[in-house]
Amino acid sequence: MTTTGLEKRDWAALEQKYYQGTFKRQPITLVRGEGVRVWDTDGKSYIDFVAGIAVNVLGHCHPAIVQAVQEQVTQLIHVSNLFYNVRQIELAEQLAEQSGGMRSFFSNSGAEANEGAIKLARKYGRLHRNGAYEIISMKRSFHGRTLATTAATGQDSYQATWQPLPDGFQQVPFNDLDAVKAATSDKTAAILVEAVQGEGGIWPASQEFMQGLRQWCDEKNLVLICDEVQAGMGRTGTFFSWQHYGITPDIVTMAKGLAGGIPIGAMLTGPRTDLFQPGDHGTTFGGNPVACAAGVATVKTIMEEHLLENATKMGEYWNTKLEELCAKYDIIDSPRGIGLMRAVHVKNDLAGTLVEKALKNGLLLNALGGDTLRMIPPLILTPADIDEAAQILDRTLEEVTR
Ligand SMILES: Cc1ncc(COP(=O)(O)O)c(C=O)c1O
Repeated sequence: MTTTGLEKRDWAALEQKYYQGTFKRQPITLVRGEGVRVWDTDGKSYIDFVAGIAVNVLGHCHPAIVQAVQEQVTQLIHVSNLFYNVRQIELAEQLAEQSGGMRSFFSNSGAEANEGAIKLARKYGRLHRNGAYEIISMKRSFHGRTLATTAATGQDSYQATWQPLPDGFQQVPFNDLDAVKAATSDKTAAILVEAVQGEGGIWPASQEFMQGLRQWCDEKNLVLICDEVQAGMGRTGTFFSWQHYGITPDIVTMAKGLAGGIPIGAMLTGPRTDLFQPGDHGTTFGGNPVACAAGVATVKTIMEEHLLENATKMGEYWNTKLEELCAKYDIIDSPRGIGLMRAVHVKNDLAGTLVEKALKNGLLLNALGGDTLRMIPPLILTPADIDEAAQILDRTLEEVTR
């Protein structure tokens, strides 16, 4: 393939000069994507089991998204939220269909969606729980990089440098209902949970925990917020991961896959917490027509191409491959996850090494710390893609253990 000559520059060196050192990059520069594959500046292709960290739910450059964005940019690129916006309303209508009638507010990222949820929960506490404002979230959770969402994130490594963090957040162990109950006080307004923890290592909540949280929130007049930023948009085989648990949260946050790769976030609420009034909250770009057009195309395609079912089926097939590889290689064990949100435990701190070697062999994977390998591929994955990825992972494990 040709890449317009850009590949002749030393991108890694230029980045070091011009870009802040926030990211630890893998040593490739990606310039093209199609389906489940991406290509680097040397024309080398990779099967993408990172998918923009659970963003590219339809794979790369899906024709439905390309067409929707192309059409929208010729019509209207941006319009202020001072005016009605057709694409915004269409996307909100689709999300209402999926969520049982919730109303949407669109932002630009997951952190921003969670900020909106935190504000809404505080408003609920002010109006309906004597000014309660505290949010109980879970250890090992991840909710974003703003100060409030960092305070909600249950991982010390994300918090230490930024103390003092905003007041009103505490974390309890995941899947421990008694701990949630013990932490609840007059100050508590809401409970914030990922039904399937993502950045923490792909840990699904137990049925008892999610159902217990719903009951506890009903009993104590608390707000239940589900962070679906990573596990939503069909990744676990249902549109929202909380749908596996037979419960409905009060507030739902989304981002990542919602527009298939165009930046967007969403905060959805049911009637109990639908309390924002003009002036309470806002955004310049959130709900932008181009992002929403991409979102409309993404949700439509997920439904028309039966990608929820595909995520379930392909997730199970990939898991059988992981089980086989765990049986064959001593350094990996405990395959876990749901749908196309999967992980294995890696011994001897070798997760990073596996990612590097798999990349050389043409498979993009992601390490969470030294002991977890995460796999969050596009939902359009086929059995042939899985066979190929499994072969590459097999070869990679052989090289690392040799
Ligand atoms: C569960 C969850 N919530 C929130 C976020 C933050 O999203 P963003 O990076 O779009 O701000 C992430 C990002 O990884 C996430 O996984």
